[in-house]
Amino acid sequence: MELDFAGLDSRIAYRWMASTITPRPVAWVSSLSGTDVANLAPFSFFQMITASPPTLIFSPLIQSDGRAKDTVANIRETGEFVVNLVSFAQIDLMNATSFTFDPNVSEFEACRVPSEASRRVRPRRVLGAPVAFECKLAKLMPYPEASPSCFVVFGEVLYAHFDESILGAGGYVDPERLNIVSRMGGNWYGRTASASNFELERPAGWDRQQKV
Ligand SMILES: Cc1cc2nc3c(=O)[nH]c(=O)nc-3n(C[C@H](O)[C@H](O)[C@H](O)COP(=O)(O)O)c2cc1C
Repeated sequence: MELDFAGLDSRIAYRWMASTITPRPVAWVSSLSGTDVANLAPFSFFQMITASPPTLIFSPLIQSDGRAKDTVANIRETGEFVVNLVSFAQIDLMNATSFTFDPNVSEFEACRVPSEASRRVRPRRVLGAPVAFECKLAKLMPYPEASPSCFVVFGEVLYAHFDESILGAGGYVDPERLNIVSRMGGNWYGRTASASNFELERPAGWDRQQKV
């Protein structure tokens, strides 16, 4: 099976890419509108790109009517957001917040998502999320420039919360205790807690090399 992506319908390209570039962790992004309506929405086009400065990116698509999603409008207006990671226990709540609500409706209220105050930014974080990154907007980039189909949001992490339950003996995250969900193709999800996970040492001598 081979596919020529040049000129391929974007819905077909989406299907093949989104079902193979997996698993993608879910960024459950909370933001505040200019009039203080609290917004919460999941995004799986999400990654860290550097730790210097600590930066993550996620990509909200532009809607078919050409409008930006509420998350983008809010971040553009206020310059702040929180990326919460989603525990397996929270998947139904996360899913509920992906519904397209009116901008004046808060997903926190409509979906009854418990929250608590953040430390460095105004948007609240999700109570019970195993990890939450408080971010300030570093860059908001429409892509592709000539005819954008999405935005890439760059967030600099200012402060983070790690639930004690995911930490191991050494004080760092224990992969066996982390149970966050990720997006796969269609309606499929993955979990970091999996019996098929394994460890792999880097090649001997890698730490004496320049590159990491
Ligand atoms: C697991 C999951 C992952 C999603 N990932 C994305 C994504 O990466 N980009 C995107 O534009 N929409 C994504 N969506 C859809 C948005 O969550 C949805 O459009 C949401 O209503 C946007 O909310 P907002 O308008 O309040 O920002 C995803 C939905 C789910 C359930």
